[in-house]
Amino acid sequence: MSLPSTNNKDLYSGVEFSTWLDREELMPAEEYLIKKYLNPTLGIVEAGTNGGRILLRMQELGFTSLAGFDYVPTLIDKAIERDPERTIDFQVQDAIELTYPDNSYEQIVYLQQIICLIENQEDRLKALHESYRILKPGGIGLFSFLSFESRSSQAIYRAYFKYLAILRRLRGDDLRIQYLPWLILGGKFNFNAILDRPPFTYWYRVTEIYELLKSVGFEIVSIGTDAQISTDSLKTTDRELFSEKISGMLYIVVRK
Ligand SMILES: C[S@@+](CC[C@H](N)C(=O)[O-])C[C@H]1O[C@@H](n2cnc3c(N)ncnc32)[C@H](O)[C@@H]1O
Repeated sequence: MSLPSTNNKDLYSGVEFSTWLDREELMPAEEYLIKKYLNPTLGIVEAGTNGGRILLRMQELGFTSLAGFDYVPTLIDKAIERDPERTIDFQVQDAIELTYPDNSYEQIVYLQQIICLIENQEDRLKALHESYRILKPGGIGLFSFLSFESRSSQAIYRAYFKYLAILRRLRGDDLRIQYLPWLILGGKFNFNAILDRPPFTYWYRVTEIYELLKSVGFEIVSIGTDAQISTDSLKTTDRELFSEKISGMLYIVVRK
């Protein structure tokens, strides 16, 4: 029997390899953010591009200067296969240490919660600093994050968090409750979620990531969850968001 994977890169090279390759269309929130905040005539890099789904759809929407990176080389091979004319600059890179020069892109896309897939706090911060470094002054960034408040709003997850907290206490493990095991892997329930086994994803609190992005140097343009996107009513501060329903992923649009 093979040993369970221990980090998220192993998952994307293995059991999760096809999950995103099998998808083609933009999700409603992605389409909304891209159309509302990005300019098709300006350069863009997408972090964690996988098989290039988002960039290939953006190309159809008229975006011309596109680049994307992922830390799994075999996924980048797939992305290149889907772009035989090599019109998109696909590269193997790790978000925590990029080789792009400072101020390389007018726009950056960090959707599908890429930052939350980085296992430790220091590396998540490094990745945010890197995203800031490669963005041109005045440039726009689209981020999405796993939202702890959104998940905690459901009773079943609150019960699960209590169970995990007890388990961790019994084991003498002080891992924060915002680190959660994967519930579904390769389309199937992950029994390691009951045993609280890694790899984990990190679920940000709204104010925590709002302040972290500002501390890196970003100005917050808009903030909201799927609930606000579906009603075209993103907010400009975390406080404003707290007066509304927090449901689904958390989206933050930033400017450098
Ligand atoms: C949830 S998938 C999203 C894929 C793609 N953005 C999409 O929406 O179709 C996250 C992707 O991020 C990549 N990834 C995770 N952490 C990364 C890192 N530190 N550097 C580069 N890529 C990373 C994974 O390999 C995976 O392909």
